[in-house]
Amino acid sequence: MSERTFVMIKPDAVSRGLVGEIISRFERKGFKIKALKMFKFTREMAEEFYAEHKGKHFFNKLIDFITSGPVVALVLEGPNAVETVRIMIGPTDGRRAPPGTIRGDYALDITANVIHASDSPEKAVREIKIVFKDSEIIEE
Ligand code: PPS
Repeated sequence: MSERTFVMIKPDAVSRGLVGEIISRFERKGFKIKALKMFKFTREMAEEFYAEHKGKHFFNKLIDFITSGPVVALVLEGPNAVETVRIMIGPTDGRRAPPGTIRGDYALDITANVIHASDSPEKAVREIKIVFKDSEIIEE
C-alpha cells in the first residue's frame, strides 16, 4: 500500500552538511519525493508542530533546538512509508540507534538527533498540513 509520510532533517544535520546524504538514502531505497522545502521554524509554529510534548521536561529544549537554524522538510511516498521510514531513521536517542540507521550512523544525542519522521499515518497528515500548502505537493 502506497502512503505518504513527513520527514524533517533537523538543524544539526543541515549545519553539518548532511542534507544530500540523508535525502539520497530515501531515494536509493525507492521513495518518491512529493514535496521538499528548507525553512526556519518560528517559535509559534514549532510549538504547534510539537504540541503533543507540551508540558514534558524537554519541551523548551526541543523548541530552542528546532528553531535554532533551518530545517529541510520532505513528503515521501512509497509502500508503508510511515513504518519503513521510521525503521530507516532508528530510535530517538542517537546513542542507542543501531548502525545502519540514519540516527545510528550520524547522531549521538536525543535532542540533536538529525532527523524527524511521522510515527503514524494520522500524524503524517497533520505534520504535512502544518508545513506544506496543498499547492507545494506534487500530485501525479
Ligand atoms: S516521548 O517521550 O516518547 O514522547 O519521546 P519521543 O516521541 O521519542 O521523542 C520526542 C521528541 O522530543 C525530542 N527530545 C526528547 N525526547 C525524549 N527525551 C528527551 N530528553 C528529549 N529531548 C528532546 C526528540 O528528539 C523527539 O523529537 P522528534 O522530532 O519527534 O524526533
